[in-house]
Amino acid sequence: MHIAPEPAAQDVISLLKACALPVADIAAGSPVQFFGIRSAGTLAAVVGVELYPTAALLRSLAVEPSFRGRGFARSLVRFVESFAASQGVETLFLLTTTAERFFLALGYLPVSRVAAPKAIQATSQFTSLCPASSAFLAKRVATAA
Ligand SMILES: CC(C)(COP(=O)(O)OP(=O)(O)OC[C@H]1O[C@@H](n2cnc3c(N)ncnc32)[C@H](O)[C@@H]1OP(=O)(O)O)[C@@H](O)C(=O)NCCC(=O)NCCS
Repeated sequence: MHIAPEPAAQDVISLLKACALPVADIAAGSPVQFFGIRSAGTLAAVVGVELYPTAALLRSLAVEPSFRGRGFARSLVRFVESFAASQGVETLFLLTTTAERFFLALGYLPVSRVAAPKAIQATSQFTSLCPASSAFLAKRVATAA
């Protein structure tokens, strides 16, 4: 399995739409970076991350239905955790309505929205795209200096 930066916005949008995830804020100049796993040229799985100085938002995790259950999502989450830590991020945050137990199993913990860093509170996922009923989770990813 090879994880690589995913610059093909149209493929990302198609996969996210097929998985019923929001795409409204994905456009040129958007702060989100995508990483994906391709199989025979097809985008099988994707994850997005918005990096801010000491925090990041993990978002847009989607696996095409026929590729689920092979560990792709778990690998993408671990990849983003390492990538974010390498960029100086201390804590990864995320909102989810559909996969809370998946992230709890990977060490994420529920946190209060009011305690979120301002940069995270200002993201479009936080302010408008994810419903207020979404679980808000966080995980410390900083590696010891
Ligand atoms: C959630 C999703 C990304 C998981 O992808 P995947 O490739 O099947 O996941 P993996 O193979 O890496 O992990 C499988 C494990 O996660 C669990 N899992 C998968 N989807 C889950 C979900 N929605 N909630 C809780 N656990 C889930 C499986 O039971 C399995 O657990 P096990 O190893 O203990 O048996 C995929 O189902 C998906 O794209 N869903 C639609 C989009 C979505 O809801 N994304 C999350 C938005 S933040």
